[in-house]
Amino acid sequence: KRKAEKTEVAEHQNKPPHTSPSLPTEPALYSGPFPFYRRPSELGCFSLDTQRQYHGDARALRYYSPPPTNGPGPNFDLRDGYPDQYRPRDEEVREGLDHLLRWLLEHRGQLEGGPAWLAGAIVTWRGHLTKLLTTPYERQEGWQLAASRFQGTLYLSEVETPAARAQRLARPPLLRELMYMGYKFEQYMCADKPGSSPDPSGEVNTNVAFCSVLRGRLGSHPLLFSGEVDCTDPHTPSLQPPACYVELKTSKEMHSLGHWRNFYRHKLLKWWAQSFLLGVPNVVAGFRNPEGFVCSLKTFPTMEMFEYVRNDRDGWNPSVCMNFCAAFLSFAHSTVVQDDPRLVHLFSWEPGHPVTVSVHRDAPYAFLPTWYVEAMTS
Ligand code: A3P
Ligand code: MG
Ligand code: MG
Repeated sequence: KRKAEKTEVAEHQNKPPHTSPSLPTEPALYSGPFPFYRRPSELGCFSLDTQRQYHGDARALRYYSPPPTNGPGPNFDLRDGYPDQYRPRDEEVREGLDHLLRWLLEHRGQLEGGPAWLAGAIVTWRGHLTKLLTTPYERQEGWQLAASRFQGTLYLSEVETPAARAQRLARPPLLRELMYMGYKFEQYMCADKPGSSPDPSGEVNTNVAFCSVLRGRLGSHPLLFSGEVDCTDPHTPSLQPPACYVELKTSKEMHSLGHWRNFYRHKLLKWWAQSFLLGVPNVVAGFRNPEGFVCSLKTFPTMEMFEYVRNDRDGWNPSVCMNFCAAFLSFAHSTVVQDDPRLVHLFSWEPGHPVTVSVHRDAPYAFLPTWYVEAMTS
Protein backbone atom coordinates (compact mmCIF):
# COMPACT_ATOMS: atom_id res chain seq x y z
CA LYS A 1 0.00 0.00 0.00
CA ARG A 2 2.79 2.38 0.97
CA LYS A 3 4.61 1.83 -2.27
CA ALA A 4 1.45 2.47 -4.27
CA GLU A 5 0.88 5.76 -2.48
CA LYS A 6 4.44 6.88 -3.17
CA THR A 7 4.06 6.11 -6.85
CA GLU A 8 0.84 8.05 -6.97
CA VAL A 9 2.48 11.08 -5.39
CA ALA A 10 5.36 10.89 -7.84
CA GLU A 11 3.01 10.69 -10.79
CA HIS A 12 1.03 13.57 -9.44
CA GLN A 13 4.21 15.66 -9.21
CA ASN A 14 5.22 14.76 -12.74
CA LYS A 15 1.91 15.75 -14.27
CA PRO A 16 0.20 18.25 -12.01
CA PRO A 17 -3.34 18.81 -13.28
CA HIS A 18 -4.57 22.24 -14.41
CA THR A 19 -1.22 24.00 -14.20
CA SER A 20 0.22 26.18 -16.95
CA PRO A 21 3.28 25.00 -18.85
CA SER A 22 6.79 25.90 -17.70
CA LEU A 23 10.25 26.00 -19.26
CA PRO A 24 13.26 24.26 -17.69
CA THR A 25 16.61 26.08 -17.64
CA GLU A 26 19.24 23.38 -16.97
CA PRO A 27 22.28 23.85 -19.26
CA ALA A 28 22.35 20.14 -20.21
CA LEU A 29 19.00 20.54 -21.98
CA TYR A 30 20.33 23.22 -24.35
CA SER A 31 23.72 21.89 -25.41
CA GLY A 32 22.85 21.23 -29.06
CA PRO A 33 24.51 22.97 -32.00
CA PHE A 34 24.67 26.77 -32.07
CA PRO A 35 21.36 28.10 -33.43
CA PHE A 36 21.01 30.51 -36.34
CA TYR A 37 21.74 34.08 -35.24
CA ARG A 38 21.57 36.75 -37.91
CA ARG A 39 24.36 39.30 -37.64
CA PRO A 40 22.44 42.29 -36.29
CA SER A 41 22.24 45.34 -38.53
CA GLU A 42 21.60 48.83 -37.25
CA LEU A 43 18.27 50.36 -38.26
CA GLY A 44 18.80 53.65 -36.45
CA CYS A 45 19.54 55.16 -33.07
CA PHE A 46 18.38 57.63 -30.47
CA SER A 47 19.86 59.57 -27.59
CA LEU A 48 18.74 60.44 -24.09
CA ASP A 49 20.03 63.72 -22.65
CA THR A 50 20.99 64.86 -19.13
CA GLN A 51 17.25 65.25 -18.35
CA ARG A 52 16.50 61.80 -19.81
CA GLN A 53 14.74 63.44 -22.76
CA TYR A 54 14.54 61.55 -26.05
CA HIS A 55 16.21 62.80 -29.23
CA GLY A 56 16.01 60.88 -32.50
CA ASP A 57 19.70 61.32 -33.27
CA ALA A 58 23.23 60.33 -32.19
CA ARG A 59 24.01 63.37 -30.06
CA ALA A 60 24.95 61.26 -27.03
CA LEU A 61 27.35 59.02 -28.96
CA ARG A 62 30.91 59.30 -27.68
CA TYR A 63 34.24 58.46 -29.30
CA TYR A 64 36.69 55.84 -28.08
CA SER A 65 39.87 57.66 -27.05
CA PRO A 66 42.23 55.45 -25.02
CA PRO A 67 45.50 56.86 -23.61
CA PRO A 68 48.39 56.75 -26.12
CA THR A 69 50.09 53.34 -26.13
CA ASN A 70 53.59 54.90 -26.14
CA GLY A 71 52.79 57.07 -23.09
CA PRO A 72 52.96 56.28 -19.36
CA GLY A 73 49.81 54.13 -19.38
CA PRO A 74 46.56 54.85 -17.62
CA ASN A 75 46.24 56.09 -14.06
CA PHE A 76 42.52 56.80 -13.78
CA ASP A 77 41.14 57.71 -10.38
CA LEU A 78 37.63 56.27 -10.65
CA ARG A 79 36.56 57.71 -7.30
CA ASP A 80 37.42 61.27 -8.33
CA GLY A 81 34.33 63.48 -8.15
CA TYR A 82 32.31 61.11 -5.99
CA PRO A 83 29.74 61.94 -4.71
CA ASP A 84 29.62 65.68 -5.62
CA GLN A 85 29.78 65.13 -9.37
CA TYR A 86 27.35 62.18 -9.47
CA ARG A 87 23.95 62.75 -11.08
CA PRO A 88 22.39 59.29 -11.01
CA ARG A 89 19.31 58.52 -13.04
CA ASP A 90 16.09 58.21 -10.99
CA GLU A 91 15.62 54.44 -10.84
CA GLU A 92 12.07 54.82 -9.52
CA VAL A 93 10.98 55.93 -12.99
CA ARG A 94 9.75 52.85 -14.84
CA GLU A 95 10.47 53.53 -18.48
CA GLY A 96 9.63 50.08 -19.79
CA LEU A 97 9.99 50.01 -23.57
CA ASP A 98 8.85 53.65 -23.97
CA HIS A 99 11.96 55.12 -25.66
CA LEU A 100 12.23 52.19 -28.04
CA LEU A 101 8.49 52.41 -28.82
CA ARG A 102 8.87 56.10 -29.64
CA TRP A 103 11.65 55.25 -32.09
CA LEU A 104 9.55 52.47 -33.58
CA LEU A 105 6.50 54.71 -33.96
CA GLU A 106 8.57 57.30 -35.82
CA HIS A 107 10.25 54.76 -38.09
CA ARG A 108 7.66 52.03 -38.62
CA GLY A 109 6.93 53.28 -42.13
CA GLN A 110 10.57 52.84 -43.20
CA LEU A 111 11.10 49.31 -41.89
CA GLU A 112 12.50 46.91 -44.46
CA GLY A 113 9.90 44.21 -44.94
CA GLY A 114 7.14 46.62 -43.91
CA PRO A 115 4.29 46.05 -41.46
CA ALA A 116 4.28 42.31 -42.19
CA TRP A 117 7.84 41.99 -40.89
CA LEU A 118 7.04 43.90 -37.70
CA ALA A 119 3.92 41.77 -37.14
CA GLY A 120 6.14 38.67 -36.90
CA ALA A 121 8.87 40.26 -34.81
CA ILE A 122 9.80 40.37 -31.13
CA VAL A 123 10.49 43.86 -29.76
CA THR A 124 12.58 44.26 -26.60
CA TRP A 125 15.71 45.71 -24.99
CA ARG A 126 19.05 44.03 -25.58
CA GLY A 127 19.52 43.93 -21.80
CA HIS A 128 16.47 41.68 -21.45
CA LEU A 129 17.92 39.28 -24.01
CA THR A 130 21.24 39.34 -22.14
CA LYS A 131 19.44 38.08 -19.03
CA LEU A 132 17.86 35.28 -21.06
CA LEU A 133 21.24 34.26 -22.49
CA THR A 134 22.84 33.92 -19.06
CA THR A 135 19.85 32.25 -17.35
CA PRO A 136 21.10 28.62 -17.63
CA TYR A 137 24.22 29.64 -15.64
CA GLU A 138 22.72 32.21 -13.27
CA ARG A 139 22.63 31.18 -9.59
CA GLN A 140 21.84 34.46 -7.86
CA GLU A 141 19.29 36.70 -9.49
CA GLY A 142 15.89 35.79 -10.90
CA TRP A 143 13.91 37.87 -13.37
CA GLN A 144 10.41 38.67 -14.56
CA LEU A 145 9.52 39.48 -18.15
CA ALA A 146 6.13 40.88 -19.10
CA ALA A 147 4.89 39.95 -22.57
CA SER A 148 2.08 41.40 -24.67
CA ARG A 149 1.06 40.67 -28.24
CA PHE A 150 -0.18 43.64 -30.24
CA GLN A 151 -0.85 43.68 -34.00
CA GLY A 152 1.03 40.40 -34.18
CA THR A 153 4.25 41.74 -32.63
CA LEU A 154 5.40 40.23 -29.34
CA TYR A 155 6.70 42.87 -26.92
CA LEU A 156 8.89 41.84 -23.96
CA SER A 157 9.52 44.24 -21.08
CA GLU A 158 11.31 43.46 -17.84
CA VAL A 159 9.60 43.89 -14.47
CA GLU A 160 11.75 44.56 -11.42
CA THR A 161 11.34 41.61 -9.06
CA PRO A 162 10.43 42.35 -5.42
CA ALA A 163 13.86 41.01 -4.40
CA ALA A 164 15.67 43.27 -6.89
CA ARG A 165 13.65 46.26 -5.71
CA ALA A 166 14.46 45.52 -2.05
CA GLN A 167 18.16 45.19 -2.95
CA ARG A 168 18.14 48.44 -4.89
CA LEU A 169 16.47 50.36 -2.06
CA ALA A 170 18.98 48.95 0.42
CA ARG A 171 21.99 49.38 -1.87
CA PRO A 172 25.09 49.75 0.32
CA PRO A 173 27.12 52.98 -0.13
CA LEU A 174 30.11 51.00 -1.42
CA LEU A 175 28.03 49.50 -4.21
CA ARG A 176 26.69 52.92 -5.07
CA GLU A 177 30.24 54.20 -5.38
CA LEU A 178 31.22 51.18 -7.49
CA MET A 179 28.43 52.04 -9.92
CA TYR A 180 29.75 55.58 -10.19
CA MET A 181 33.21 54.20 -10.89
CA GLY A 182 31.98 52.20 -13.89
CA TYR A 183 30.61 55.37 -15.47
CA LYS A 184 33.67 57.40 -14.46
CA PHE A 185 35.83 54.96 -16.44
CA GLU A 186 33.78 55.81 -19.56
CA GLN A 187 34.56 59.50 -18.99
CA TYR A 188 38.32 58.79 -18.98
CA MET A 189 38.09 56.68 -22.14
CA CYS A 190 35.67 58.68 -24.31
CA ALA A 191 35.75 62.02 -26.12
CA ASP A 192 32.73 64.05 -27.16
CA LYS A 193 34.10 64.61 -30.69
CA PRO A 194 36.04 62.28 -33.02
CA GLY A 195 39.34 64.18 -32.89
CA SER A 196 39.41 65.39 -29.30
CA SER A 197 40.61 63.98 -25.97
CA PRO A 198 38.53 62.86 -23.00
CA ASP A 199 37.58 65.52 -20.45
CA PRO A 200 37.30 63.73 -17.12
CA SER A 201 36.25 66.89 -15.27
CA GLY A 202 32.58 67.58 -14.88
CA GLU A 203 29.53 65.61 -13.91
CA VAL A 204 28.83 61.93 -14.33
CA ASN A 205 25.18 62.02 -15.41
CA THR A 206 23.76 58.54 -15.94
CA ASN A 207 20.61 59.88 -17.59
CA VAL A 208 22.66 60.31 -20.75
CA ALA A 209 22.63 57.36 -23.14
CA PHE A 210 23.17 56.55 -26.78
CA CYS A 211 21.05 53.64 -27.98
CA SER A 212 21.41 51.67 -31.18
CA VAL A 213 18.28 50.06 -32.67
CA LEU A 214 18.94 46.83 -34.51
CA ARG A 215 17.30 44.16 -36.57
CA GLY A 216 18.32 40.56 -36.02
CA ARG A 217 16.97 37.04 -35.94
CA LEU A 218 17.42 34.13 -33.55
CA GLY A 219 16.26 30.82 -34.98
CA SER A 220 12.86 31.54 -36.51
CA HIS A 221 12.33 34.72 -34.46
CA PRO A 222 12.82 38.09 -36.15
CA LEU A 223 14.07 40.58 -33.57
CA LEU A 224 13.89 44.35 -33.26
CA PHE A 225 15.87 45.41 -30.23
CA SER A 226 17.77 48.34 -28.81
CA GLY A 227 20.83 48.52 -26.62
CA GLU A 228 22.89 51.22 -24.98
CA VAL A 229 26.32 51.67 -26.60
CA ASP A 230 29.30 53.12 -24.73
CA CYS A 231 31.24 54.54 -27.68
CA THR A 232 32.34 54.21 -31.29
CA ASP A 233 35.94 53.81 -32.45
CA PRO A 234 36.71 56.71 -34.83
CA HIS A 235 39.80 54.85 -36.09
CA THR A 236 37.65 52.28 -37.86
CA PRO A 237 35.68 54.62 -40.17
CA SER A 238 35.23 51.85 -42.73
CA LEU A 239 33.37 49.72 -40.22
CA GLN A 240 29.63 50.23 -40.16
CA PRO A 241 27.74 50.08 -36.90
CA PRO A 242 27.58 47.95 -34.83
CA ALA A 243 31.09 46.78 -35.89
CA CYS A 244 32.63 50.14 -34.90
CA TYR A 245 31.17 50.11 -31.39
CA VAL A 246 33.25 49.49 -28.26
CA GLU A 247 31.95 48.26 -24.89
CA LEU A 248 33.78 49.54 -21.80
CA LYS A 249 33.95 47.62 -18.54
CA THR A 250 35.75 47.81 -15.24
CA SER A 251 36.82 44.89 -13.09
CA LYS A 252 38.96 44.20 -10.05
CA GLU A 253 42.69 43.78 -10.66
CA MET A 254 43.53 40.08 -10.52
CA HIS A 255 46.54 38.52 -8.86
CA SER A 256 46.11 34.76 -9.09
CA LEU A 257 45.08 32.12 -11.58
CA GLY A 258 42.06 31.45 -9.38
CA HIS A 259 40.95 35.08 -9.74
CA TRP A 260 41.26 34.89 -13.53
CA ARG A 261 39.39 31.57 -13.69
CA ASN A 262 36.54 33.06 -11.69
CA PHE A 263 36.52 36.11 -13.94
CA TYR A 264 36.32 33.93 -17.08
CA ARG A 265 33.51 31.82 -15.61
CA HIS A 266 31.28 34.59 -14.39
CA LYS A 267 32.06 38.12 -15.56
CA LEU A 268 33.19 37.20 -19.07
CA LEU A 269 29.91 35.34 -19.65
CA LYS A 270 27.95 38.54 -18.96
CA TRP A 271 30.29 40.62 -21.07
CA TRP A 272 30.07 38.13 -23.94
CA ALA A 273 26.25 37.89 -23.84
CA GLN A 274 25.79 41.67 -23.82
CA SER A 275 28.21 42.40 -26.66
CA PHE A 276 27.55 39.35 -28.82
CA LEU A 277 23.82 40.10 -29.05
CA LEU A 278 24.42 43.60 -30.38
CA GLY A 279 27.41 42.68 -32.57
CA VAL A 280 29.95 44.74 -30.62
CA PRO A 281 33.34 43.26 -31.59
CA ASN A 282 35.47 44.39 -28.64
CA VAL A 283 35.16 44.90 -24.90
CA VAL A 284 37.84 47.09 -23.34
CA ALA A 285 38.38 46.36 -19.67
CA GLY A 286 39.95 48.68 -17.14
CA PHE A 287 41.31 46.85 -14.11
CA ARG A 288 41.03 48.82 -10.89
CA ASN A 289 43.26 48.38 -7.85
CA PRO A 290 41.94 48.46 -4.26
CA GLU A 291 42.39 52.26 -4.21
CA GLY A 292 40.05 52.60 -7.18
CA PHE A 293 42.68 53.45 -9.81
CA VAL A 294 42.73 51.87 -13.27
CA CYS A 295 46.37 51.23 -14.17
CA SER A 296 45.92 48.63 -16.89
CA LEU A 297 43.63 48.03 -19.85
CA LYS A 298 42.92 44.87 -21.79
CA THR A 299 40.89 44.36 -24.95
CA PHE A 300 38.74 41.23 -25.12
CA PRO A 301 37.47 40.44 -28.62
CA THR A 302 33.89 39.23 -28.15
CA MET A 303 34.38 36.30 -30.51
CA GLU A 304 37.40 35.06 -28.50
CA MET A 305 35.84 35.13 -25.02
CA PHE A 306 34.59 31.56 -25.18
CA GLU A 307 38.17 30.31 -25.66
CA TYR A 308 38.92 31.14 -22.01
CA VAL A 309 36.35 28.58 -20.82
CA ARG A 310 36.18 26.14 -23.74
CA ASN A 311 38.16 23.51 -21.81
CA ASP A 312 36.73 24.38 -18.39
CA ARG A 313 34.23 21.87 -16.99
CA ASP A 314 32.67 24.68 -14.97
CA GLY A 315 32.70 27.14 -17.82
CA TRP A 316 29.83 28.41 -19.99
CA ASN A 317 28.86 27.55 -23.52
CA PRO A 318 27.53 30.08 -26.06
CA SER A 319 25.33 27.40 -27.68
CA VAL A 320 23.56 26.73 -24.38
CA CYS A 321 22.91 30.47 -23.93
CA MET A 322 21.56 30.96 -27.44
CA ASN A 323 19.54 27.71 -27.50
CA PHE A 324 17.90 28.60 -24.21
CA CYS A 325 17.07 32.09 -25.45
CA ALA A 326 15.58 30.64 -28.65
CA ALA A 327 13.58 28.14 -26.59
CA PHE A 328 12.28 30.91 -24.35
CA LEU A 329 11.22 33.02 -27.34
CA SER A 330 9.37 30.01 -28.80
CA PHE A 331 7.79 29.34 -25.40
CA ALA A 332 6.67 32.97 -25.11
CA HIS A 333 5.46 33.00 -28.70
CA SER A 334 3.25 29.96 -28.22
CA THR A 335 2.03 31.07 -24.76
CA VAL A 336 1.01 34.60 -25.68
CA VAL A 337 -1.66 33.87 -28.26
CA GLN A 338 -4.28 36.55 -27.70
CA ASP A 339 -3.61 39.85 -29.44
CA ASP A 340 -4.38 42.44 -26.78
CA PRO A 341 -2.12 45.28 -25.57
CA ARG A 342 -3.80 45.24 -22.13
CA LEU A 343 -3.17 41.56 -21.55
CA VAL A 344 0.14 40.54 -19.97
CA HIS A 345 1.72 37.13 -19.63
CA LEU A 346 4.26 37.45 -16.86
CA PHE A 347 7.19 35.05 -17.18
CA SER A 348 8.94 34.55 -13.84
CA TRP A 349 12.17 32.79 -13.09
CA GLU A 350 14.14 32.03 -9.93
CA PRO A 351 17.47 30.17 -9.96
CA GLY A 352 16.99 26.44 -9.48
CA HIS A 353 13.46 26.51 -10.90
CA PRO A 354 11.80 26.47 -14.32
CA VAL A 355 10.32 29.58 -15.94
CA THR A 356 6.64 29.91 -14.97
CA VAL A 357 3.78 32.00 -16.34
CA SER A 358 0.94 34.02 -14.83
CA VAL A 359 -1.71 36.09 -16.62
CA HIS A 360 -2.69 39.68 -15.81
CA ARG A 361 -4.80 42.47 -17.23
CA ASP A 362 -4.12 46.24 -17.13
CA ALA A 363 -2.29 47.83 -14.16
CA PRO A 364 0.24 47.24 -12.81
CA TYR A 365 1.67 44.89 -15.43
CA ALA A 366 0.38 46.24 -18.77
CA PHE A 367 3.27 48.18 -20.31
CA LEU A 368 2.27 49.27 -23.82
CA PRO A 369 1.42 52.96 -23.35
CA THR A 370 -1.89 54.38 -24.60
CA TRP A 371 -0.09 56.89 -26.84
CA TYR A 372 1.61 54.00 -28.60
CA VAL A 373 -1.45 51.78 -28.93
CA GLU A 374 -3.59 54.66 -30.22
CA ALA A 375 -1.02 55.86 -32.73
CA MET A 376 -0.53 52.31 -34.03
CA THR A 377 -4.29 51.72 -34.25
CA SER A 378 -5.16 54.89 -36.18
P1 A3P B 1 31.04 48.47 -15.34
O1 A3P B 1 31.26 48.47 -16.82
O2 A3P B 1 32.27 48.70 -14.60
O3 A3P B 1 30.26 47.29 -14.90
P2 A3P B 1 27.72 49.00 -18.99
O4 A3P B 1 29.02 48.31 -18.68
O5 A3P B 1 26.62 48.06 -19.30
O6 A3P B 1 27.97 50.00 -20.07
O7 A3P B 1 27.29 49.79 -17.69
C1 A3P B 1 28.07 50.89 -17.23
C2 A3P B 1 28.11 50.92 -15.72
O8 A3P B 1 26.82 50.96 -15.18
C3 A3P B 1 28.75 49.72 -15.10
O9 A3P B 1 30.13 49.80 -15.11
C4 A3P B 1 28.22 49.80 -13.67
O10 A3P B 1 28.92 50.76 -12.94
C5 A3P B 1 26.81 50.30 -13.92
N1 A3P B 1 25.92 49.16 -14.01
C6 A3P B 1 25.44 48.60 -15.12
N2 A3P B 1 24.63 47.57 -14.84
C7 A3P B 1 24.59 47.46 -13.51
C8 A3P B 1 23.93 46.61 -12.59
N3 A3P B 1 23.12 45.62 -13.00
N4 A3P B 1 24.15 46.80 -11.28
C9 A3P B 1 24.96 47.77 -10.86
N5 A3P B 1 25.59 48.61 -11.68
C10 A3P B 1 25.43 48.48 -12.97
MG1 MG C 1 27.07 51.17 -21.20
MG1 MG D 1 30.09 49.52 -20.39
